[in-house]
Amino acid sequence: MTAPHVGIWMYENGGGKAIEQKLVHALAERGIQSSTGLNLRDARAQGGQILCNGIVMEHLDAFLSYNAGQQTQYQLYLYQALSQSIPTLNNFASFALAEDKFRTSHLLNGHGIATADYRLCHKNDIAGLKAAIRDFGGKLVYKPTDGWGGVGIVKIDGEHALDMLLPFLSRTDLRYFYVERFIDYDNTDYRIDIVDGKCVGCYGRKAPKDDWKTNITSGGSVFVREPNDEVVELAIKATQALGLEIAGVDLIYDREQERYVVLEVNTIPAFATPEQEQLGINFNQNKLDAMVELIERTVVQKRALHSVKVA
Ligand SMILES: Nc1ncnc2c1ncn2[C@@H]1O[C@H](COP(=O)(O)OP(=O)(O)O)[C@@H](O)[C@H]1O
Ligand SMILES: [Mg+2]
Repeated sequence: MTAPHVGIWMYENGGGKAIEQKLVHALAERGIQSSTGLNLRDARAQGGQILCNGIVMEHLDAFLSYNAGQQTQYQLYLYQALSQSIPTLNNFASFALAEDKFRTSHLLNGHGIATADYRLCHKNDIAGLKAAIRDFGGKLVYKPTDGWGGVGIVKIDGEHALDMLLPFLSRTDLRYFYVERFIDYDNTDYRIDIVDGKCVGCYGRKAPKDDWKTNITSGGSVFVREPNDEVVELAIKATQALGLEIAGVDLIYDREQERYVVLEVNTIPAFATPEQEQLGINFNQNKLDAMVELIERTVVQKRALHSVKVA
């Protein structure tokens, strides 16, 4: 029997390359072979097989898709197709669910996990939108359901602001409005990294002065932050509800309703960059160890299943 073989597509910037090398090394120590750089953009599919950089993806024992850049429809299409044949991390169904802000909020609420109050309404349902602004205490956040990095997120400060925005919005080809209550919080958040059902790291992010978005791309900064039991428990529950193997859960404290809420669940949470490690954010090894365990268990299960099938 050949050694288990894992395919990896991992981000390389911000220290990603070094993390990948450590991962490959740790897997090799456990007798697991890796092939890196498997960008599905370079793949072709035919005859029941996806061929990527000379590798038949269906022959792999698992595929780790861990490139934080936005993926094209083509990459996602192949990721989905591949997930029908071999285990992928994350599994595609949960990945796609978590990538959608509405479906995530909807599912978490259904599981009794607090998020910002949200509303989805048809693009012509201006009455529904106006009612939302009243129901949510006068302030809304409009979000593209598939956005990232804080891009396209707009705060709407009352009905007048909404009226100003509507002529503009009606010219865009939106299908629906997804809005959330604007949460009164201290402009800091918790990022809790979960791997395999366990908390493997935590740090905080702070919005820049005079801004309310904590995204690094919006000018936010990271800081060392110890988690409390409540945020860890919420993060684990949210990850479980979505069915993700790996997640980075963002939480904030709602000062008005006096509770923590889950803001978003990221499917490809970045490791700490070398600069962030300098600040004392040092969960990388812990997270790497958990990912190695997860990958090993995944390939062992896959092999066991395969041997049952052929027996
Ligand atoms: N409902 C909200 N109330 C207050 N602030 C919010 C709300 N939703 C998002 N934010 C702020 O905006 C940032 C980006 O929102 P998020 O939903 O995480 O989208 P993205 O995928 O673009 O990161 C969050 O990190 C948070 O600081
Ligand atoms: Mg976010």
